[in-house]
Amino acid sequence: MAKPINVSLSLFFFFLVRFSNAAYNVITYGAKPDGRTDSTLSFLKAWRAACNSAIASTIYVPKGRYLIKAVEFTGPCKNRLTVLIAGTIVAPTNYRALGNSGYWILFIKVDRVSVLGGTLDAKGSGFWTCRRSGKNCPVGARSITFNWANDVLISGLTSINSQLSHLVINSCNNVMVRNVRLIAPDQSPNTDGIHVQSSVGVTITGSTLQTGDDCISIGPGTRNLHMSNIKCGPGHGVSIGSLGKEYNEDGVQNITLTNAVFSGSDNGVRIKSWARPSNSYVRNVLFQNIVMRNVENPIIIDQNYCPNSQGCPRQSSGVKISQVTYKNIQGTSATPEAVTFDCSPSNPCRGIRLQDIKLSYRNNAATSSCKNIGGTSSGVLMPLSCLQI
Ligand SMILES: *[C@@H]1O[C@H](CO)[C@@H](O)[C@H](O)[C@H]1NC(C)=O
Repeated sequence: MAKPINVSLSLFFFFLVRFSNAAYNVITYGAKPDGRTDSTLSFLKAWRAACNSAIASTIYVPKGRYLIKAVEFTGPCKNRLTVLIAGTIVAPTNYRALGNSGYWILFIKVDRVSVLGGTLDAKGSGFWTCRRSGKNCPVGARSITFNWANDVLISGLTSINSQLSHLVINSCNNVMVRNVRLIAPDQSPNTDGIHVQSSVGVTITGSTLQTGDDCISIGPGTRNLHMSNIKCGPGHGVSIGSLGKEYNEDGVQNITLTNAVFSGSDNGVRIKSWARPSNSYVRNVLFQNIVMRNVENPIIIDQNYCPNSQGCPRQSSGVKISQVTYKNIQGTSATPEAVTFDCSPSNPCRGIRLQDIKLSYRNNAATSSCKNIGGTSSGVLMPLSCLQI
């Protein structure tokens, strides 16, 4: 019974691919899947051809390892473009080759671009060693970055051993990040998983983030960010901030994290601002349905960030934090204090809501501390809330 349908379906897809989608295989443009031959120019040629295609196009990267140096894929392109990656893209072994560019794979001003599948191996360990030794190191490279892009889909991508952040979304609109795996060792410096800033309408779902720095860091100018089904840890957790380093800075609003598991991370959900004057703000944030496993600071707001007491001693944060809800957060804290609200004396946190929080420390109730906050609490509260109601 089903057979005629299958035949017509495959014919349908055959015609769809054959006639409505131009395919550009990087091998055709001279790329070598041997992991040693520099294939940067071949990828760029395939990009230019696909980007100039009047009909929707697919760049295909077959199985194999492709050595790629720092590269910019620039738009706008004439139509929808998919980069379908079956292989692994590797960076040069010498970290200095990428280290001065700031970016490894950079998409600029692209609309309606999808990156499907693929593995990126930035080979960051030489760079981390340099950073740790405090030698003269290059600035380092983010692995994959989208600047000024709209309607982007990143699905099924794996990135390992980035020099700095794995994935950066900067000044973008409508971005979907789905089923990505971003992996770097616990002690690798500044290897954020995903960094979002100045962007509206970003969705991150079904992703595993095991990094040396923040799993997801949320910078100034982020609005309407939805994160769900996230596994985080090791790493520094999900962090809004650091904000308020500059006086004039865009705020962060309408941020949701739902259904997440944090394992062995330094923080769970964190909001962090510099202890400096600023016009910035954080508002309308929801953290819900979260499991903490042995997390050092499961819930934390820290408005006293001032590393090495430089640039802000005895100042207080101007960042206004309001309407932040924590709902159904359970599990274990790795330290006695599971809930820390250290808000700004000059701009106290407002509208903090706690509902059904159950965090233990070594089989006992953990503790909480509050400075300069207002809000409400309800449901089961362990530790007992220190909110002034
Ligand atoms: C908040 O963000 C979500 C996406 O996460 C969006 O659907 C919703 O419209 C936004 N709400 C407002 C008031 O902008």
